[in-house]
Amino acid sequence: MLNVVGLCGSLRAASYNRMLMRLAEASMPTSMRLEVLPWRDVAIFDADVLAQGLPPAVAALRERVRRADGLLIVTPEYNFSIPGGLKNLIDWLSRGEDQPFAMKPVAILSATGGPLGGARVQYDLRKVMLFVNAMVMVKPEVFVGNVATKFNADGQCSDDATRKFVAAQMAAFEAWIAGVKRLATPAN
Ligand SMILES: Cc1cc2nc3c(=O)[nH]c(=O)nc-3n(C[C@H](O)[C@H](O)[C@H](O)COP(=O)(O)O)c2cc1C
Repeated sequence: MLNVVGLCGSLRAASYNRMLMRLAEASMPTSMRLEVLPWRDVAIFDADVLAQGLPPAVAALRERVRRADGLLIVTPEYNFSIPGGLKNLIDWLSRGEDQPFAMKPVAILSATGGPLGGARVQYDLRKVMLFVNAMVMVKPEVFVGNVATKFNADGQCSDDATRKFVAAQMAAFEAWIAGVKRLATPAN
């Protein structure tokens, strides 16, 4: 079984990105299972607090990311970039020699109210994840633009093309996780 953890960049109860996360979960091959990580209570990063030790909420999230076979990030775009809360969380988790993103297979999806679907946030996120040595899958990419026309109020996706893109990405992510595991395991 591949244990994948999910981070949603929006805390909104009716978040379209959370709906997209659920669609990704429902589209996963049977070998994968998803646990969405709660991060609402993570405080603003403060190096002085870190110097006293990782806050328990951060330490727990860090461990769950570290143990996971893969990480799924599903996020809106805020002001052409990464939502502050998500970036703050990545900053916390990235500290320390044993930071959990190194060699972690990552897939990114984004949904926005506007037509571009979060192209700009994805490339900012890729840049950040590059610094922490994450193994971000390149293709297929999933950008869900005009998202309000593609999901019903009950969270179901009504757009066939979106469902196909997400299913193709999840199938590719299964293979990506296997490929990164092979790369990370020294030949013997
Ligand atoms: C602070 C803020 C900034 C936003 N900036 C962008 C943006 O740069 N590009 C974009 O396409 N949509 C932007 N939006 C609109 C979001 O795409 C839209 O609100 C989306 O539904 C948020 O995701 P959610 O439904 O998962 O909460 C912004 C929304 C907020 C709240």
